[in-house]
Amino acid sequence: EKGGHEYFMLKEIEEQPEALANTLRGHFRDGRIVLDEQRLSDQDLRDVDKVFVVACGSAYHSGLVAKYAIEHWTRLPVEVELASEFRYRDPVLDRDTLVVAVSQSGETADTLEAVRHARAQKARVLAVCNTNGAQIPRESDAVLYTHAGPEIGVASTKAFLAQIAANYLVGLALAQARGTKYPDEVAREFHELEAMPDAVARVLEKVEDVRALARSLADSKAVLFLGRHVGYPVALEGALKLKELAYMHAEGFAAGELKHGPIALIEPGLPVVVVMPSPRGRAVLHSKLVSNISEIQARGARTIVIAEEGDETVRPFADHLIEVPAVPTLLQPLISTVPLQVLAAEIAKSRGYDVDKPRNLAKSVTVE
Ligand code: M6R
Repeated sequence: EKGGHEYFMLKEIEEQPEALANTLRGHFRDGRIVLDEQRLSDQDLRDVDKVFVVACGSAYHSGLVAKYAIEHWTRLPVEVELASEFRYRDPVLDRDTLVVAVSQSGETADTLEAVRHARAQKARVLAVCNTNGAQIPRESDAVLYTHAGPEIGVASTKAFLAQIAANYLVGLALAQARGTKYPDEVAREFHELEAMPDAVARVLEKVEDVRALARSLADSKAVLFLGRHVGYPVALEGALKLKELAYMHAEGFAAGELKHGPIALIEPGLPVVVVMPSPRGRAVLHSKLVSNISEIQARGARTIVIAEEGDETVRPFADHLIEVPAVPTLLQPLISTVPLQVLAAEIAKSRGYDVDKPRNLAKSVTVE
């Protein structure tokens, strides 16, 4: 049941530390990353020369996040593609291509068809799935389960965070097999991941502040989301949550694109959520984003800034500041997404909508 929560989604948001811990558990043994049901040998992983992530919706966003980590750790090219587009073009696939099919339900028709297409072209397919024995893992060469537990809310929350963690495990397993990271580096990355449930728990302590902010945004017509690097897919995910729950016009942009068009949308009172990188980890991007925020604030936007605790440089430009704990850059999406989930759910609630069952949407989309 909802465990005393007003809606399932809030319960599922609060279960995220556990979802992450359960997804990581058991995957580091005797100093090595170990995946689940693997019909891919170490040699298969060594032979991989290209990775595709195929998925829909939030699962697709988890792939966009993972691209930054997998390319960095493995030096393999990673393409992330909407499953519904993948098989209708002519993707270059062969037996050395690893296709990672990410799906909470494991039943999404577009993703399933992408898996079939990839296998017909002899690519190896690894499913990242939250549902035991679902169709997508059944038709894949290997499966890595996210152990987020059943997700009832139509909007994906804990499964999304677990997908990022699982995709990162795939990246680390590839880096380990290929030798692009030393064993101690792989171990360090894993242990940093293991610290994330506590970091997410700290973000959750601020839920009430974010809910109050959300209530003040309920009458807005539109909300824009800006991010860079791993913050960019977080911006896309924040916008998707708001569209599906609050039926508001919401768009995520790469902040570097602002001057190439989106800045024309800025008008007085428009809420703009900015996902900041750490001032330590990505100093150059950080300062570029600070100037973006000052530009949009000068044009009257209402700025809502998610930034690392103690990041004083953003304070003058933030109409609302949501502080999150300092974590390594590649892990930031696991914490910066959380306030955006709460924001969307609470705006939807304030507008009188059913947070768990938004209109026109199904939990799993089993038709193309
Ligand atoms: O079950 P799947 O992970 O394959 O579902 C994919 C999308 O339909 C899903 O993430 C959808 O976008 C969510 N409603 C987003 O919150």
